[in-house]
Amino acid sequence: MTRVVIGIETSCDETACAVVDENRAVLSSVVWSQYDEHRRFGGVVPEIAARAHLEKADIIIGEALKQSGKTWADLDAVAVAGGPGLIGGVLVGVMTAKAISLAHDLPFIAVNHLEGHALMARLTHPVAFPYLLLLTSGGHCQVLIVKGVGAYEKLGATIDDSAGECFDKVAKMLDIGYPGGPAVEKRAGLGDAKRFRFPVPMKGRVGCDFSFSGLKTAVRVCVERQGALTEQDKNDICASFQRAVCTQFQDRMVHAIEVFRHKYPDARDLVVSGGVAANQAVRGVFEELARKNGLVFSAPPIKLCTDNGVMIAWAGVERLKCGLTDDLTFKPRPRWPLDERA
Ligand code: KG4
Ligand code: ZN
Repeated sequence: MTRVVIGIETSCDETACAVVDENRAVLSSVVWSQYDEHRRFGGVVPEIAARAHLEKADIIIGEALKQSGKTWADLDAVAVAGGPGLIGGVLVGVMTAKAISLAHDLPFIAVNHLEGHALMARLTHPVAFPYLLLLTSGGHCQVLIVKGVGAYEKLGATIDDSAGECFDKVAKMLDIGYPGGPAVEKRAGLGDAKRFRFPVPMKGRVGCDFSFSGLKTAVRVCVERQGALTEQDKNDICASFQRAVCTQFQDRMVHAIEVFRHKYPDARDLVVSGGVAANQAVRGVFEELARKNGLVFSAPPIKLCTDNGVMIAWAGVERLKCGLTDDLTFKPRPRWPLDERA
């Protein structure tokens, strides 16, 4: 019998649910983005997010089940993002999943949202453990060796902001729309990346850590100095900024690949995931890194890079296959590192 898992994601500003089976079939995926709720604030407001999840969760879950063509009786487990994230939203998802688990007598699986991103590429690509992963999203930027389900070794992380946050702030400074990442990427495609020389924090340093706050400040100073910005100025700033981010990824990952190679000479997979992995220029950096280092590059399809229910359902499948279920005493975890020893 093919096992089927429903996955619920409510840890940030997407209310999402999906049904996935262990043969990698995505039977349904419904994502409701709260952009309209948060747009006028230029960022996610936790209180508004929690209330919006509460309003929409039941509807989105019902829709995902219906679209999958399954009934509750056909399912083998309910998985939910149990953190890290905005606690109000996580509470909504976890309580809903516990209720489903009780009502339909289904095993309950609390998935680390980051594990959802980390394992996502294994749904769509033949990625084998151990693999080297850059997880780059709105809340996180870290490089990990994924040794197996629930087994992570962190090689480095940002010492200040995440790359996604930086994309969002730059978009806000330039007033080019929300969410920021896709807006910056679109503008960057029309701009001159050589016009502004932004710093590349951490470049050339030993280790695999990242830093983005200096870059963010440099963009702010540039915007202030330019005064009234033309559309071309904005495009050029976006292009130059995106190039600086990519240069940092490139520089830092060279170190990470060295460490990975040393520890696992026979491993071959290089993966980038999380919202920022939706960026074509970022994907290009990884493609090139893989080619130069004899590795195989994989990234989830664009729409599975940003938050979604499939990543939670798929991580649920992976955990279920390992016999990793949780009991209903699970407490939502606003902080939940993948590498607990780090
Ligand atoms: O993974 P995600 O949906 O949520 C978190 O777990 O944080 O990532 C969202 C982040 C946002 O900061 C967004 O601006 C960024 O990913 N992002 C992008 C792109 N699409 C989304 N950044 C750069 N280029 C993109 N195309
Ligand atoms: Zn995420």
